[in-house]
Amino acid sequence: MCGIVGYIGTREATEILMSGLERLEYRGYDSAGIATIWEGNLHFVKAEGKLRNLQEKLKQNSNPSQIGIGHTRWATHGKPEERNAHPHIDNNNKVGVVQNGIVENYQEIAEELTKAGYQFYSETDTEVIPNLIAKHLAAETDPNPSSYETPLLKAVQKAIADLEGAFALAIVAADYPDEIILVRQQAPLIIGFGLGEFFCGSDITAFLPYTRAVLNLENGEMARLTPLGVEIYNFAGERLKKAPKTLNVNPILAEKQGYRHFMLKEIHEQPGVVRSCLRSYINRDWLEKENPDFSPVNLDLSESLIAGIDRIQILACGTSWHASLVGRYLIEQLAGIPTQVQYASEFRYAPSPITPNTLTIGVTQSGETADTLAALEKEKERRSNQDPQFQARILGITNRPESSIAQVTPNIIDTQAGIEIGVAATKTFVTQLIAFYCLAIELAYRRQNIPNSRIAEIINGLFALPNQIETILETQEDYSEELAHEFIETQDFIFIGRGINFPIALEGALKLKEVSYIHAEGYPAGELKHGPIALLDAKVPVVAIAQPGLVYEKVISNAREAKARDARLIGVLPASDSNGSKVFDDLFAIPEVEEILSPILSVIPLQLLAYHIAARRGLDVDQPRNLAKSVTVE
Ligand code: AGP
Repeated sequence: MCGIVGYIGTREATEILMSGLERLEYRGYDSAGIATIWEGNLHFVKAEGKLRNLQEKLKQNSNPSQIGIGHTRWATHGKPEERNAHPHIDNNNKVGVVQNGIVENYQEIAEELTKAGYQFYSETDTEVIPNLIAKHLAAETDPNPSSYETPLLKAVQKAIADLEGAFALAIVAADYPDEIILVRQQAPLIIGFGLGEFFCGSDITAFLPYTRAVLNLENGEMARLTPLGVEIYNFAGERLKKAPKTLNVNPILAEKQGYRHFMLKEIHEQPGVVRSCLRSYINRDWLEKENPDFSPVNLDLSESLIAGIDRIQILACGTSWHASLVGRYLIEQLAGIPTQVQYASEFRYAPSPITPNTLTIGVTQSGETADTLAALEKEKERRSNQDPQFQARILGITNRPESSIAQVTPNIIDTQAGIEIGVAATKTFVTQLIAFYCLAIELAYRRQNIPNSRIAEIINGLFALPNQIETILETQEDYSEELAHEFIETQDFIFIGRGINFPIALEGALKLKEVSYIHAEGYPAGELKHGPIALLDAKVPVVAIAQPGLVYEKVISNAREAKARDARLIGVLPASDSNGSKVFDDLFAIPEVEEILSPILSVIPLQLLAYHIAARRGLDVDQPRNLAKSVTVE
């Protein structure tokens, strides 16, 4: 949500800022802007809408500055108009600020500043910040500044003492042409270390082509970037010693590689990332041993994290919440541990009563979702007076182990999906599911809740999945594209599933509404008759996920009930199911697997359908309106 980029070094800043913004555009795309310093002046260019509008403007406004900050915006305060675009500049055109997050008390600050003669031109919460810094710079009279402090750093330090909320800031000032000041408070900000040049970004993608040596600022920290190096401070102005680390990230992941959209590319990456996640965590040697004395899964979870747990609560939002619902099913059915799944945004204000042997799991693809991080922080705080083992029982599941969730909990399962650029989560969802299979097997094995022979069956089934996903992509892609033609004008869709495939119905509906703007709802198939069936007629297609197993016959009956109301029925069924297929008007035929493994396969045709309908409608699939990849505001 909002992307920040910054550069200081020996190259032309504008080019580096713009290439950073291109890679950050998935975080927000309502407006964009950059500020540079050249010949003692602050230059800024901003444009409403997509980045290409800013690119056009820069053709007439560029300069060879070697320092600058840039921003791509997801509107919170104020409409997506040019005057609300970042950078925001103080009244004297001296200080430029880009911000991610929200300053909650900006109105009070604006009132104070207005009384002192400052004027405001935007509707944003950000505009108070450059003016506040300018005010402190003007009043900077400290006769004995400590050796490290520069007037700009000091003025920023004083300004942020007045700010309440969650924010990440990058600041430049015309009179200090050799420094960028960074501030992090509950919103991500990462520094990149090059050779004689330094970068910052709200995500590593901002500077991935230039360096993989990074330092993640922590909440309550500031940094000063100069052409000579990086200094880190806490908000009290004390210098901190910190060293960068090198990330093992493939920059190719942030390129489209010939695909029309990132979403399509990421759908096609799924066999590979599922394979890689399984190989990372499942020990296939275990299958070969008669009486293995080691675990089939190696998630590197400490004893203190999981020994003796009798309850699990999972906190997540959106697609990660859907993955968590599948996770609950797996943990309860395989490991026998009662599990709750809560929306992180709801949990924050109404947490369940605390019990000592509860393991809390936060699930997030970005690792930056404000609601999920705040819910986990809340959980940590609630546990802070308890015994150390209880305090330790917090785990994160993410594909971004370098992100903020790692600052909340050191216990992370990296789903191995890598960076996902398309706003609609696809590969990160299936790998979150694989992480849950691994966790459920690990817990089931430790508790001896199911026989080893059953664990072996499931593991063998899991290793067959990557090839089966490939089969679906080969056989169903063209079909889903053709089918998509028929739904260009459709206004409503219903998705139904039961048991372990109910969350897949929710996910199918979310994917479709996110990228195609078609209204879609997911229901447990048995609930259709309790209300939603009133919506059905010939204009409302129903997608039913019917996989052999416990609830197969029930789903088929529920689908028939929909057909009796004239709904067009689309089935997601095993290719081998010749009887079931007669019920449906259209069919996604997928390889047959046992029910407990079926979500991983059922979701693929639904992703393809959502993608192709949106692409057919000519929509911006990777950057759907009003959405952002990392939701870093509450
Ligand atoms: C997924 O397609 C959505 N873009 C959205 O629901 C997302 O899953 C949600 O915002 C949570 O994000 P997270 O996984 O990064 O925490």
